[in-house]
Amino acid sequence: MKKVTITDLMAWKKEGRKFATITAYDASFAGLFEEQGIPVILVGDSLGMVLQGKSDTLSVTVEEIAYHTRSVRAGSPNTLLMADMPFMSYSTPEKACESAAELMRAGANMVKIEGGAWLADTVTALTERAVPVCAHLGLTPQSVNIFGGFRVQGRDADKAEQMVKDALALEKAGAQVILLECVPATLAARIAETVSVPVIGIGAGKGTDGQILVMHDILGISANYIPKFSKNYLAETGDIRKAVAQYVSDVESGTFPGPEHTFN
Ligand code: KIV
Repeated sequence: MKKVTITDLMAWKKEGRKFATITAYDASFAGLFEEQGIPVILVGDSLGMVLQGKSDTLSVTVEEIAYHTRSVRAGSPNTLLMADMPFMSYSTPEKACESAAELMRAGANMVKIEGGAWLADTVTALTERAVPVCAHLGLTPQSVNIFGGFRVQGRDADKAEQMVKDALALEKAGAQVILLECVPATLAARIAETVSVPVIGIGAGKGTDGQILVMHDILGISANYIPKFSKNYLAETGDIRKAVAQYVSDVESGTFPGPEHTFN
């Protein structure tokens, strides 16, 4: 695969070309994902849940994300690699710059932070210092204790308007990608049309420019639970490479996500 950059994602948005992204935490899976044509990988703080067995992401550290980022980078040299900034690692712009430096040195091309317009100064501080930023809105799992659980966000009109304003403020501050998690499909589509940067969705319907899923969900590894917005592609195909290839092709053709994976 040719090296993927943010310029490619911007061009794909303009062309209306959809793209599939996925989480990864080690070199072997990252290599397989790159081989199957996944252009963007996220080293998510979901690793606290899917690798460490915790009930949320709050205990994950910058060192842990950096460790997994190094592994993923080793396996997928050409993928655009996003690394999650863990809980409290970007509580001030200064702290954000220190945390981001560690993740960029580990091989990330971009960092992801969770939150709305209040993060504008942090986004500007990072981008001015050559750290590209993905801003995560909607169900931001680090705020689980504020939300009172992992719940769909932006369902009422005021919250939906606020999310559109947040996306615009973060884009203006310099964010080069917006990620929307668990928001109604109409709101996600509106945000994707409103901002000029690529928007990646998870549980956000088919109107976003890209889709992301947690690798354990598409491989059906979380035995007792699969989120409504995800799909067990391994069950459908019976082979890991075919599962990933099918996911990529379903996203590119607009077949995934279907109405059954979408919140209204
Ligand atoms: O941590 C993570 O894996 C994420 C995705 C669910 C988008 O933030």
